Amino acid sequence: MQPEFDRYAKDYAEFSRDPLRDSFAPGSRFFLARKIMLLREFFKRRAEATESASWLDVGCGQGDLLRHGKRYFGRAAGCDVSGGMLRSCEELDVRLMESPCEVPFEAGSFDLVTAVCVFHHVARTDREVLFADISRVLRRNGIFCIIEHNPFNPVTRLIVRTCPIDVEARLLRAETSRNLSVSVGMKILATEYFLYFPEWLYTKLASVEARLSSVPLGGQYAVFAQKVL
Ligand SMILES: C[S@@+](CC[C@H](N)C(=O)[O-])C[C@H]1O[C@@H](n2cnc3c(N)ncnc32)[C@H](O)[C@@H]1O
Repeated sequence: MQPEFDRYAKDYAEFSRDPLRDSFAPGSRFFLARKIMLLREFFKRRAEATESASWLDVGCGQGDLLRHGKRYFGRAAGCDVSGGMLRSCEELDVRLMESPCEVPFEAGSFDLVTAVCVFHHVARTDREVLFADISRVLRRNGIFCIIEHNPFNPVTRLIVRTCPIDVEARLLRAETSRNLSVSVGMKILATEYFLYFPEWLYTKLASVEARLSSVPLGGQYAVFAQKVL
């Protein structure tokens, strides 16, 4: 069966455009910057350098997050089930996933794995198997960060409801992401809610957003889990 995102790959930016999303922040630069900021701050709090860390972005799509963040990491790689999406990643270290549940890298290869807005496109029956394979490619004590749309945020729900690439999306609550992490033997380290303020306000209210990070209402959330086994 053809991967869903092969249908959207050619005009992905156009399919993702939404007036409400654009009024929050035009284009994708702010959304990418906030995610890289979250990852770097998480590592900084643990007194760990990202510069020596190897990072894999599962469901990397057209590679935007990798392009934005790779300069902060020792190694940055990606994989996706959609060959159409990966066609835009020529200069990046990316691999095609032959199966939606198999990460095409060696066991124990990465210090950090991210999956950003991927799991709401993964069939419920495949989710735990993919979590387990993500855990397989992590080194012991490696970190998995899943970032997802927050179903408790009404603006997020509205954008998802009208976005053509999300017609088959099934949003995951942070609790579901935490439960899936625990079910494959990972330990939950943190849950952070973000994207409370549009870009123009965030520049003034970054410290308020940081204080709201435990309130489950931000536009998206990040769950950080650690492979302990
Ligand atoms: C909404 S896009 C997000 C792309 C990228 N992570 C980003 O934030 O821009 C969802 C991506 O997840 C990919 N995807 C869907 N199911 C997947 C799976 N089982 N394994 C890996 N990637 C998957 C799609 O092909 C698509 O590229």
